[in-house]
Amino acid sequence: MSDSLETLRAELLAEVDQISDLKALEDLRVSALGKKGRITAEMKTLGGLSPEERKEKGQALNQVKASVAEALNARKESLEADALNAQLEAERVDVSLPVRPEEMGRLHPISQTWDEIVAIFGEMGFTVMDGPDIEDDFHNFTALNIPPEHPARQMHDTFYLCGEDGEVDMESVLRTHTSPVQIRTMENQEPPIRIIAPGRTYRSDSDMTHTPMFSQVEGLVIDKKANFGHLKGCLQEFVNAYFEVDDIPLQFRPSFFPFTEPSAEVDIGCSRKGGELKIGAGEDWLEILGCGMVHPNVLRASGIDPEEYQGFAFGMGIERIAMLKYGIPDLRTFFDADLRWLRHYGFLPLEAASMTRGLTP
Ligand code: DAH
Repeated sequence: MSDSLETLRAELLAEVDQISDLKALEDLRVSALGKKGRITAEMKTLGGLSPEERKEKGQALNQVKASVAEALNARKESLEADALNAQLEAERVDVSLPVRPEEMGRLHPISQTWDEIVAIFGEMGFTVMDGPDIEDDFHNFTALNIPPEHPARQMHDTFYLCGEDGEVDMESVLRTHTSPVQIRTMENQEPPIRIIAPGRTYRSDSDMTHTPMFSQVEGLVIDKKANFGHLKGCLQEFVNAYFEVDDIPLQFRPSFFPFTEPSAEVDIGCSRKGGELKIGAGEDWLEILGCGMVHPNVLRASGIDPEEYQGFAFGMGIERIAMLKYGIPDLRTFFDADLRWLRHYGFLPLEAASMTRGLTP
């Protein structure tokens, strides 16, 4: 091999040795073996040589080319292995590290109360239904026997949504209660129906006892014979189980809701002796929910024949009964997302509420 080819090989191999990253290695490969590379340039000179010289130089060049290519490949493999090792080192996870105590999550009292409600009514044979937070006027009002111009609409402080033109769309509301799920259920299911519908609700209202978003649970039972006695029994069973007190006194006060007839508000007995609130027998009453027999107009609007079917419904504020059971004084704190509050009032996430295991951890 001529001295000049020997020098070329030695130079290129030395360069390969010095390369420390893959990009530079690729650049070097192109500058040696690429179309305009140094070895390729030598190849191009072969045409002008005599057959003897061409054969000799051609063979020598092929050797140079093969050894440079081999060196490039070997370097590439070793750089790739280095890169992988560096990545594995950097991404190493120490599986033996203990969990940091402050990472222990807590269930929000609303979630806990929600789970307790579902566990109790689930045991009684109710299934859980869901409906959209953005409702139409029909399901939130009209089908619930609240026609346009009905004064009950004013009581709801409704949030209306805007249409695409930016104007208020009177057809589209954030649901003001979970009662529209009654309608959606009756539209889609044949009686007998026995459901609860926990969910978020919205009203433009804010003070100690009202927040713009809050949670309710709706109950609905429809069959041929469900009557007010069944409603009383069902609610009695619920409050005893939920407050974990036997025979809580219940008081049904006549009231008015457009979607029920007759309607009642329900109070539970309590005592406030010594400034401490205790649920159960006592001299005082606390309102906890609204209920009644489903109005025939509501059945009709949902495609159910009131001559054949009847039933009862109830609606309850989830935060309200959470406050009563867990002694939480201010409704607004539920939505402050204050970790100190959550650590104090929250629940252990793996102690799920169930009737067989007990509701509260
Ligand atoms: N939807 C009522 C409200 O928000 C609560 C309610 C009362 C629901 C009576 C009912 C019922 O199902 O029968 O304020």
